[in-house]
Amino acid sequence: MISIEDVNIIKQLSAEEGLKFISSKFSEGLVFSTSLGQEDQVILDIISKNDLPVKIFTLDTGRLFYEHYELLANNNSKYKTKIEVHFPNTADVERYVNEKGVNAFYYSVEARKECCFIRKVKPLNQALKNANIWITGLRAEQSENRENMSIIEWDEERMLYKYNPLIQWNYQEVLHYLEENKVQELPLHKKGFISVGCQPCTRAVEEGENPRNGRWWWESSHKECGLHR
Ligand code: ADX
Ligand code: SF4
Repeated sequence: MISIEDVNIIKQLSAEEGLKFISSKFSEGLVFSTSLGQEDQVILDIISKNDLPVKIFTLDTGRLFYEHYELLANNNSKYKTKIEVHFPNTADVERYVNEKGVNAFYYSVEARKECCFIRKVKPLNQALKNANIWITGLRAEQSENRENMSIIEWDEERMLYKYNPLIQWNYQEVLHYLEENKVQELPLHKKGFISVGCQPCTRAVEEGENPRNGRWWWESSHKECGLHR
C-alpha cells in the first residue's frame, strides 16, 4: 500500500530519491516499461546505477525502428541488464494483417487503435500481470492528456499503482541528465524525432513544433495509443 504520506514524501523527492524510496517500500512487483525514448533512458540509468530491484521490459510491436534494436542491445551490454521483451500475440497480428492489411492503421482511427491494442496494449497488460507498481517515463508537458497526471496514481483497470518519476521534468532537464551522465539515446532524436513510437507511425518534427505532432501525424484525434488512455 502507498499511503497519502508516502505520496507527499515522493512529491518532495528528486526522481532518483523517489525511485530509491519506492524500491525500499516494495521489494516485489516493481516494474518499469521502457520505450527506449529519452525519458526512459534517464530512468534506466537511475535504476541501473542504484541497482534497484525493478524488472524492466519493453514492448516490441514488430514495427519499431532499426535503431530501437541497437539501443536495446547496447543498454543490455552497458548496464549488464536483460530488458525483457514482450511481443504481441501471433494469432492476433496474423488476423489483423491478413484481414485488414499490413498498413491498415493508415485507413481509419478505429483500425489504428485496433493495431495499437494488439501490438501494444494487450502485451502491456500481460507484462503488468503480477506488478504492484508500474514505473513510466511520462511527463506532464508532453500532451494535454498528460498535464493532469500525478506522480503516483491508482490504475483501477490494471489494479496497480502507476509511478511517473519524471512527471514534472521539462525537456531541457531530460537533455541535461542525458548529457551529464553520458547516457546513450536513439540517434533518431538528433534527426527531429522527439517522441518516438513505431516506425510507420512516427515522423520528424520541425524545430519548435509540438513533438506529439510526429506521432500518428495523419490523425487529428486524441493522440494516445491506449497505454495511457
Ligand atoms: S505512447 O503511449 O504515446 O506510445 P510514449 O511513447 O509517450 O507513449 O511513452 C510514454 C511511456 O509509455 C514510456 O515512458 C514508457 O513507460 C511507456 N511505453 C511507451 N511505449 C512503450 C514500449 N514500446 N514499450 C514499453 N513501454 C512503452
Ligand atoms: Fe500499430 Fe502504429 Fe500503433 Fe505501432 S503505433 S501499434 S504500428 S498503429
